[in-house]
Parts: sequence; C-alpha cells; structure tokens
Amino acid sequence: MSKRDFLCLGDLSPEETRHVLSLAGTLKAAPKGSHADELRGRAVAIVMEKASTRTRVSFEVGVAQLGGHPVVLSPQGSQLARGEPVFDTARVLSRYCDAIVYRTSETTRLREMARAAVPVVNALSDDGHPVQVLSDLFTIEEVLRRRGDARRLSELTVAWVGDGASNMARSFVEASRLFGFALRIAAPEAYRPPADEVAGAGGRVSLHDRPEDALRGAVVVNTDVWTSMGQEAENAARMRAFAGWTVTEAMLKAAEPDAFVLHCLPAHRGEEIDDETIEGPRSVVWDQAENRLHVQKALLCFLLGV
Ligand code: CP
Ligand code: NVA
Repeated sequence: MSKRDFLCLGDLSPEETRHVLSLAGTLKAAPKGSHADELRGRAVAIVMEKASTRTRVSFEVGVAQLGGHPVVLSPQGSQLARGEPVFDTARVLSRYCDAIVYRTSETTRLREMARAAVPVVNALSDDGHPVQVLSDLFTIEEVLRRRGDARRLSELTVAWVGDGASNMARSFVEASRLFGFALRIAAPEAYRPPADEVAGAGGRVSLHDRPEDALRGAVVVNTDVWTSMGQEAENAARMRAFAGWTVTEAMLKAAEPDAFVLHCLPAHRGEEIDDETIEGPRSVVWDQAENRLHVQKALLCFLLGV
C-alpha cells in the first residue's frame, strides 16, 4: 500500500474523515495514558519553518501520548536555513522517522517534502491549514452535540469575516466543497479566495461586501488575523482595508441568536475580533485549541495505519 499524505482536506475521503473524527472523539474521552502504545517505537519529525505554539505543541505532545518520539526541527536548528534542499531533508528524515509534519510557506516546498517515503502532514502553508480546519469540524460537531442540536455539517451555514484569501479561509472553502455546508465569506474585494476554489465548491460559497450580509443565518462564525505570518510588510495596507471589520457582539446580532465563534488563534484583539467577543459566551476558542491535540493524534494513527 502506498503511503498517505495529508496536504489538504481532500486527501482523505469523506468516510476516512468521518473515521478520523470519530477516533478523535474516542481519544478525547479516554483516560490519559490509555493509548500509549499506538506509536510505540515510531518517530515523527515536526519541521516548523514558521512560528507555532498550538500546532507544534499539540503534535509534539500528541506523539508522546501515543508512545512515539517527536523530533522538532526549526530551520535555524537544522541544515534547512543553510540551504539544504527540502527533498534531501525529506529523504533523510524518511530514513529515521515514520511521518513528517511540515509547516512552510510555498506549496512547492510542501510538495517537495511530500516526496518523502513516509506520510507528510501539512501543518500550515500559504494555501491552507488543513489540520486546523479538520479539527474545527470536530469542534463544530462537538458544540452542536453538546447543545442537543442534531444538524449535520451539510445543514449548516458557516460565516467567514475577514481575510478571505488566508490559508484558513481557503481550507474552509475546501471544507465547504467536501462537507456540503454553506460558507458565506465577507471580505474586501482584494482579499477574497481564488475564484477557481470558490467555483469548485459548486455554489456553496457566497461572497459578500459587508460582514452583516455574510452572518445571515450563520450558526458558526469564523475569523482569523488580518495579517498572516509572512505578510508583515503589508500590515499597514491591511489595517486600512479591514478597518471596521472587527467581529464584535454588536456585529454578531446579524447571525443566528445562538451563533458561536471560532478563531484558530493567535488572535489580535481589537483587530479581527474584540476582547469582549473572544472572552465572551459565544467563543469556543479554547476548546477549539484543545481539540487540535485529539484530532491530530487520530490523524496520525490513521495515516500510520495503527
Ligand atoms: N492555530 C495555529 O495553528 O496556531 P499556531 O500558529 O500557534 O500553531
Ligand atoms: N492565517 C494565519 C494562521 C495562523 C495559525 C497565518 O498564516 O499566520
């Protein structure tokens, strides 16, 4: 059997995604230490070319909890910063490790790493953040279940307010295509997802000029930073373009009364979301962050066939 990568959400079939999310639920409910043999004797390289708190720690702790050995590499602490080609790194890591988790910018680098002989997981790139959004699907279903809301993902309206061209927004567009929910994106004209990705979602994704229009009917409201990692030089222009787009309690009146708020974090309070909202009763961001651990453990188990 050929090795399996997870570079985008579509690398898993809907049935496989269902299996991973269900396993994540099992792992979350299990007492600590009860799944400590799954990755025994295995090592997972976690290569981070950009800053990370959640992704790095949740993968590192997750591998350790499954009995495996995580190896964290940064460009400066490896030969990557001195120009060793990504494919050379991939081939060498494949000789020591059973999987590679990789955060980078360009898709070309991600694809080079995916030439490794072992499964490669996209831990964020310019085009998407699939491990975050996979985990967000788990969080959305968890919140609905806790409320006794029997709706399935395909019956939901999800709103996105802010940078519609960000890696997060683009993975939500992909999720809309794969899991059938309506995605209403409010973003200034210059910050919209690629047209082909929107078209690929077959009418499920709609684009709006005003946040309030995107929020109509939404039970899930999502935002992300206005300036992603690597876009710092554009910060001033982005602050101007997004002025007035801060997700606030007042803005959320346009959504369903019980709408809840996701943010992948880190958040810039006072920019894409205000303090009251992220700390308020609608916010599920801390559960959302925790769920990264459970979902990624399940994903690794699936990709490694254990
Ligand atoms: N949400 C997320 O990926 O956070 P980090 O950048 O801290 O990993
Ligand atoms: N869009 C953000 C996500 C961070 C987890 C970034 O790329 O910086």
